Amino acid sequence: MADESPLIRSLRAAVAAAPGDVPLRLHFAELLLAEGRSDEAVTEAAVALQHAPGDAAARALMVRAMGLPPAAPETPVVQERAEAPAVPESPPAPVRPEPKSSFDWAAAEEQVSDVVGPRFLEEPQAEGGDGLTGDAAAWDVDAPGAVRLADVGGMTDVKERLEAAFLAPMRNPELRRLYGKSLRGGLLLYGPPGCGKTFIARAVAGELGANFLTVSLSDVLDMWIGASEKNIHDIFETARRQAPCVVFLDELDALGGKRSRTHNNGLRNVVNQLLTELDGIASGAGNEGVFVLAATNVPWDVDIALRRPGRLDRTLLVLPPDAPAREAILRYHLRERPIEAVDLGKLVKATEDFSGADLAHLCETAAETALLDSARTGSVRLITTKDLLGAAKQLRPSTEPWFSAARNVAMFANEGGLYDDLLAYLKRKRKL
Ligand SMILES: Nc1ncnc2c1ncn2[C@@H]1O[C@H](COP(=O)(O)OP(=O)(O)OP(=O)(O)O)[C@@H](O)[C@H]1O
Ligand SMILES: [Mg+2]
Repeated sequence: MADESPLIRSLRAAVAAAPGDVPLRLHFAELLLAEGRSDEAVTEAAVALQHAPGDAAARALMVRAMGLPPAAPETPVVQERAEAPAVPESPPAPVRPEPKSSFDWAAAEEQVSDVVGPRFLEEPQAEGGDGLTGDAAAWDVDAPGAVRLADVGGMTDVKERLEAAFLAPMRNPELRRLYGKSLRGGLLLYGPPGCGKTFIARAVAGELGANFLTVSLSDVLDMWIGASEKNIHDIFETARRQAPCVVFLDELDALGGKRSRTHNNGLRNVVNQLLTELDGIASGAGNEGVFVLAATNVPWDVDIALRRPGRLDRTLLVLPPDAPAREAILRYHLRERPIEAVDLGKLVKATEDFSGADLAHLCETAAETALLDSARTGSVRLITTKDLLGAAKQLRPSTEPWFSAARNVAMFANEGGLYDDLLAYLKRKRKL
């Protein structure tokens, strides 16, 4: 913040240097609160509580920082609040339901959303968007990001396979020379939705110190009627100019649509152009430093021509996050929420088969429960293990339907052992 006071600025730096120093952080939070920046104070108090769960001073400060503004007895809450300062300076006062009419939930929620910290976290910068939507540019290049494989929680198998099958040869020119072109193909990530394919692709780019160019094929195909081959070519031209660069083809199945089944000429041309580009990369000439990763939830719909040797010839199954990964994801989504002494171990056990996206949703649901509860009773409370476990019970893992479909393919259409990894997993989990 440009106009921040020097004291706040130095305290912020001191806190960053000693993140575990709870009294220091609380001091910082007090100052923020005194400046009327109560949402930031809530965040700091929440972090302090993570370091020292149950700390009375931290808790007291949190409650003060979350202080709810008094409800207007007569006028509807929304209007009353329209010009009021977002940050109440007065001590917390309970929100009381209006005497006669029913309580205005939406208004109350909106009111407290200013002071209880973000209800909807921004996606980590690491992850950006899952591609391109609407009328955004057809593709985007991100500078080498800060995401590394170490940021991917758990999933040791995936990381080891990535290292052996992709990263080591890419990083090591000697190895590349030794094995020649056979290592030049791309890697296809597949698995249930929301389980980290995009995240992992970004981490791979981070490991290679490469730019990251995402192309969401289902989005761009619609926008490209008529000019698709040229656009595919432009994407790879951009990547060559920006090398080292990872080209990430998301939703590869949108193209795959099995060419024989596709009567759409335009689509066939796009696939052919993509094959040309992939072969260009395999041949090396002028393509040094361009790496191709692709992802799909439905690998069985991907055109087999795209999977021939030298193209996307290696696959990597990305499964629902294992226990350490779930813990990392939960920690991430709870990091700025007012929580108290959350038992992560219990929560991790209760969320088997949940995808990363499901876990984010779970944290949101629990926060909502605590928020509405606070508004209803007029006494602010933090998010507890019980809220989170309750949310876990309420939600069904979204990966279930995927596994039912994948099970059939793995059992009856496992051509050339394509889905051996998936079969092994299904056996291990007794899902066969
Ligand atoms: N192992 C992990 N460690 C940390 N965060 C993870 C991990 N796996 C997934 N996530 C998080 O889970 C969320 C969903 O992941 P992501 O978008 O990469 O899934 P996806 O497989 O690409 O989904 P889709 O099939 O919908 O495109 C993201 O917020 C991501 O950061
Ligand atoms: Mg994705």
